[in-house]
Order: sequence, then C-alpha cells, then structure tokens
Amino acid sequence: MPHILIYCMKFHVFYTKKEKNVKKRRKKEEIEGKSSIVFIGSLISMELIQSETIKEIRNKTDIKEVIGSYIPLIPKGKNYFGVCPFHDDHSPSLSVSKEKQIYTCFVCHESGNVFNFLMKYENISFVQAVKICADRVGIPLNMKEKIETSSKFQTLYDIYELSLKFYENNINTVSGKGAKEYLLKRGITEEIRKEFGIGLALKKKDLFTSLLFKKEYPEKEILKSGLVNKNETGYHDIFYNRIMFPLWDLNGKVVAYSGRIYDSDDSSKYINTKQTEIFKKGELLYNYHRAKTEARIKGQIILMEGFMDVIASYQIGVKNTIALMGTALTKNHVLQIKKLAKEILICLDGDEAGEKATSSCIEAFLKVGVTPKIVRLEENLDPDEYIRKYGEKKFLLKLENPLTVMDFKLGSLKKEVDLKKNEGIAEYTHQVIEQLSFIEDDILKEVTLNKLSLETNLSMDFLRSKMKEKDKEIKPVSVTEKEKKWTKYEKAERNLLFYMLHSEKAIQIYNEKVTFLPTEKYRKLLTEIRGFYLKRKEFKIADFISDISIRLPDLLNTFGEIESMDLKEEWNASEIEDYINTIQEYNIKYESNRLQNLIKKEIDPKKQAEYAQLILELKKNILEEQYDK
Ligand code: CTP
Ligand code: MN
Repeated sequence: MPHILIYCMKFHVFYTKKEKNVKKRRKKEEIEGKSSIVFIGSLISMELIQSETIKEIRNKTDIKEVIGSYIPLIPKGKNYFGVCPFHDDHSPSLSVSKEKQIYTCFVCHESGNVFNFLMKYENISFVQAVKICADRVGIPLNMKEKIETSSKFQTLYDIYELSLKFYENNINTVSGKGAKEYLLKRGITEEIRKEFGIGLALKKKDLFTSLLFKKEYPEKEILKSGLVNKNETGYHDIFYNRIMFPLWDLNGKVVAYSGRIYDSDDSSKYINTKQTEIFKKGELLYNYHRAKTEARIKGQIILMEGFMDVIASYQIGVKNTIALMGTALTKNHVLQIKKLAKEILICLDGDEAGEKATSSCIEAFLKVGVTPKIVRLEENLDPDEYIRKYGEKKFLLKLENPLTVMDFKLGSLKKEVDLKKNEGIAEYTHQVIEQLSFIEDDILKEVTLNKLSLETNLSMDFLRSKMKEKDKEIKPVSVTEKEKKWTKYEKAERNLLFYMLHSEKAIQIYNEKVTFLPTEKYRKLLTEIRGFYLKRKEFKIADFISDISIRLPDLLNTFGEIESMDLKEEWNASEIEDYINTIQEYNIKYESNRLQNLIKKEIDPKKQAEYAQLILELKKNILEEQYDK
C-alpha cells in the first residue's frame, strides 16, 4: 500500500496525514487534562476508572498466581510455562513472566497482562477483568455494581431481553396452562422453569412482532433478530405455539431460542433461531455460563447432547453440565470446554448416533491434549430418560464410574473383530496399539496394554515393544505456522519494536533518531510506545498493555506478534541504531523512488528540477548523518 508521507526535515521523520491529526488531537487532550482518565469499553457507556487505580490493581496482582489458578504452570528459567488455553495444543507454549507480569504464547502469539488473560479466558470485558483483580487484592472500585459495556448489537440484546419477559409472561396466563402441565409431566418444576427462563409462544402468530413495532424498534433490527419473518402477508412471529427455551451465549446473555412442540403434532420437534449476529451455533454451549462455577469447583464438566438432559441433571443437583444442542462439536467448543475443568465427562445419548458422536468428541478432545472420560447409557436412553426410568441414584452411580477412553474404544473395536480367530486377534492388537499411540497418559497406556495382554495372550514385553515402535512413527503435528520470510526492513522494524518494548534505553535511543516505520501496524505500535513513555517518563510493559487494551485493542495482536519473537535478551546501542538506519535507508529509497516517478510524469521542467533537488537533499541528509557518526 502506498502511503503519502509528510517529510519533516527537522527530525528526518515521515508522518502520514492521519498521524498528524492524531498528534494534534493528543496535544489537545493533554491540554484539557483528559488523558489521565481512561474510557472503558465503548464510549457510549462511560464507566470511568482512573488509570492510576488500574495500575495499582495490576501492580498488586501477581499474574503467575492468577494464570496458575487456571492452568498448571511449571517454572523454567526466569519464567513459568503452561499449555496455552487459546489454541489447540498440548505442549507448554505459554510463557508467563513474573518479572514483566505478562504472558505470551509462542505458537498462537496470544499475549498480554493479567487483565487480557482474564478477558480472553473468561470471555469478559476489560472492566470485569479489572474488577476480578480488584476483588482479589482488596482494592475497592468506586463503580456502579452493574458493569455494562454497550455493544454494537445492543438493540438485538434488548430485543431478546424483552422477548424473555414476554414469553415467560405468556406461560403464566390462562393460555399457558397446557404448557405448564407438559413441563410438570416432564418433571420440570416451577422453580426450574423460572431458573431456566422457560416461556411460551402463544398460538397467535403476530403477538411478539406487534410488541416490537409498538416499542418502535427499527424494522431492520426486528428482522435481524431471528424472531420475526416477513412475507407477502406481512410480518409475523417465527415462534408460535411452542414452549420457548432461551439459549444463552457464553456470557449469559439470551441470544436465541429453541421452541418445542407440546400440544400439536408439528413435524419438527424443535425449531431453533437461525444464526444471527449474536447467535453463532458453533460457539454456543447450552448452560455454559451457569455450569462454569460449579465445574471449576468440582474440577469436572459433563457434556450432554440436548438441553433437556442438562435441565434433568440440574434437577437432581448435577449442575456442572452443558449441552451441544444437536450440533457437532467444533474446535471452538473444544477450547471453551477445556477451559472449564480438568476432567471432561462425555455423557451423550445411549443410541448408536450417540455412540458415533462420542467417538468424534473423543478425537476432538484428544487433539487438544485432553483425555476425556465416557459414560454410556443402556437401552438407547438419553440422560433425561435414564434419570426418569432408573432414578437419580443409578444415574449418579453411572457418572461416578465412567469408562476410560480406551475402555470405550476397546468396546467399539471388539464389536468389529472376531477374537476367536487369529486374524481377529492380530487386527484387534494392531488397532488397540494404534489408538493407544494418541494417548498421552502413560498409566492409561500401561493399564490398557495389560488388558490387551490378557485378552490376546501376547506377552507384555512384546506389546510394549510394538507400542514403542508405533509411538516413534507418530510424530506430533506441529501447530506452528510456517515462519514468515521477513524482508530486511521488516526484520529491522520488528527487532526495534521488541527491544523498545523491553527497555527504556532502547526507547531513548529511538527518540534521538526518530524514523518513520513503513509498516502501518508496526508504526502504530511504535507511536504508542513512544507516547506512553513520554507521558509517564517510564515504561512498564504490563501497564502499557492495559493502556492499549483500553484504547486500541486491535493493536494487541501486533503486540503479541512482536512479544512472541524469540530474540536474545541482551542487546547494545549500536544494534538499535543499525535497525533504525536500515529502516531509514528503506524510507529514503521509497521517497526518492516516488520523486523519481513524479519527475517522469511531470512535463514542467521547473517542477522536475524541484523534485530532483528534493532527491539530492534526501541523499545529502543521509550522508551527513553517516558523517556525524
Ligand atoms: N434438536 C433440534 N431439532 C430437532 C431435534 C433435536 O434442534 N428436531 C437439538 C435440540 O437442541 C436438542 C438436541 O438436538 O436439545 C438433542 O436432540 P434430542 O436428543 O432429540 O432431544 P431431547 O433432549 O431428547 O429432547 P426431548 O427429550 O424433548 O425429546
Ligand atoms: Mn429426551
């Protein structure tokens, strides 16, 4: 992308027009004294926390303690290492620095301070993350209890909040009698109904639509909500004559519905809201926001197929359950679930489809280094049916005695081979060893080999040696993206930024020589580093991150990219100067090319001479600089 540069002769600096304007605005803000206060979230919700308070909270919080309470960390050198929860991996690529109070993943480049970790891990806003840390270290925050950051989808969220009240209200009217009876028949008490916000869409097909128009919601938003349809006859409700089960996103906001038939023989048992801007099927897990706390306390999360199963378990006090809502388990799901607890229990429907789904869930979890446990229910029952048929105690017993992944796999394999025949035994042994090679748990491996030895009469020594061969064959797939080839100039920009992030001295050296960074994202990061240092007269990386997280969250990606470079810690001033000179050299080349092109296009000889003069000056400046050194 060509950039129009404004060359400032005095400092040998190039600015883009936009940057000039930003500078002007900054100056103005500084004069008005605005910059000591930070605006959180979108500018519409004006929650203000003094940046000094944020700094104090961050200072008193130990990132190692916080991250360590979520994932196991092992000390290595100056830092701590753990398995990164933000990408699918099972080697320890996440580094946590106690000294710098930041974390960095060397594979997915996710990086930040304690607030960023909490935001990302808990799917919360910056303010909420600050609040968690403030509570941890006992610093009172003078803010309204309810922290709402507005979103660009606020109207959609509002529509859903209204719909929740509307449908819940319906079920309590005379027309809701049948629905209530249906729920009671299924064992859903009034208390549970309220807890899960279960409501009713009445038979008439335009009730909610009319309410939305009466409340003057914009037509565009109404149609976007996924609750209203438009056809030749006008607008009407998508859901009617159905029991309405609200679906929450991971943060506990209602974003969709599943509507169930209860007194008709409509061909579709459930109708779900179509995908909308706030409802992404591959991201939602039913009951996630409620199950979260319980799962962390118990250290276990149970995955089920349908939300009715989750509600049924909830009624017998098993509250660490979530449901897939009839979709396949996505990579996104897997990463979210992995965050909840160490032990993952898969308890899908007892039928053949459930068996298949269990198999693919197992693969998905193994891929991210989690070995789940499995519960299989007899007679094709789903958890809800099982609880009703066999009662609470028997179901709890099932949960307490899950199968290991290998038990489950051996069971499936055995169905496919004939162990009375030699070929059957050979095939079975091959398969078991192949499957075992995906398992990281050494004890589970040994236990399974023992079982296999008993079943096949093959010696343990033999099986172990076969296992060793297989393990060697299967190399873990590297998730690292191919290292990009950087140009000489890009390398200089990146290295310069790395050292500026790590040392005030490097910032000072840059400030002496200031140059324009050609790559926009690097230039933005550099501008922020300088601005931060000039304002605070010191540079603490973790506080710098707070600052950009609030104002320029997109810049965090660039920060992560730079921070996750594996550069040596030591450096000297001449290296930094070399980086700057390399960049400068690029700029001069770029600018003189541009002028040369102008000369070619220009017909006025006077102008041509002017451009030529500018080129000369550029070159002279460089020479002088080199001479100065
Ligand atoms: N599902 C769906 N549409 C269907 C059937 C199922 O969207 N026609 C989804 C629902 O989210 C449901 C999940 O798939 O929660 C599991 O389906 P199923 O096992 O059939 O539902 P149950 O939980 O058994 O529901 P119920 O007991 O009410 O029949
Ligand atoms: Mn069911």
